[in-house]
Amino acid sequence: MVKPLIAGNWKMHMTVRESVDFARQLRSEFPEPVDRNIVIAPPFTALYPVAEVLRGSGIYLSAQNLHWDEEGAYTGEISAEMLVDAGCEYVIIGHSERRTFFNERDSEINRKIKTALKFNLRPIFCVGETLAERESEQTFAIIKRQIEEGLINLSSDGIEQIVVAYEPVWAIGTGKTATPGQAEEVHRFIRNTMAEINRKDTSSKTVILYGGSVNHNNIGDLMNQPDIDGVLVGGASLNVETFIKIVRF
Ligand code: PGA
Repeated sequence: MVKPLIAGNWKMHMTVRESVDFARQLRSEFPEPVDRNIVIAPPFTALYPVAEVLRGSGIYLSAQNLHWDEEGAYTGEISAEMLVDAGCEYVIIGHSERRTFFNERDSEINRKIKTALKFNLRPIFCVGETLAERESEQTFAIIKRQIEEGLINLSSDGIEQIVVAYEPVWAIGTGKTATPGQAEEVHRFIRNTMAEINRKDTSSKTVILYGGSVNHNNIGDLMNQPDIDGVLVGGASLNVETFIKIVRF
């Protein structure tokens, strides 16, 4: 059993002041590392000030995206080196909102993952099917494609650094959570697929998160499943009291 990982994805919410206040409260609740890994992913503008608050606490900082190139003429983009410089240890890659609204394809996601790993950022690699794909029984095929294409040509060491987040698109921000059984079925499939692509069975160590309308009421049942190692929380991570309850599930 790996150490549970509880991550909050703030998306395009929170000012610098709000982010710093949140981080201070979270830190005062968890001043030292606990028996679970806590990660928060503020917007880019708040990363550095939040890193200053979290320094030495054992609470990790994540970005929500990065560019695949190391530097260059990409107006408006952020590089892996900049994220490390700002204090990040994780980065969310391939979130369904980026796939949907910014047309991110598996090949770009793959490049981003490689760049993140090169700079020692741990990717939180998101996969998940839409409602139409689930209803037409394509869930496993979609997840398999996203994993195989997203992680193509990665070294075994690289694959072992990946945190996979299963986020069914139909459950994100909708209040509709996958049942623990539905989530577990896909998590098991993801674990097996990770073992296949890595060609050695370190899959028991792969951290696989569930995301999609997680809150402090439903997290317990989800975390009871053998292949659910943690959660990636959107909406319910924006309020610090609620997030603390989630972390303490
Ligand atoms: P949600 O978002 O918890 O608001 O459904 C999860 C996510 O998109 O990571």
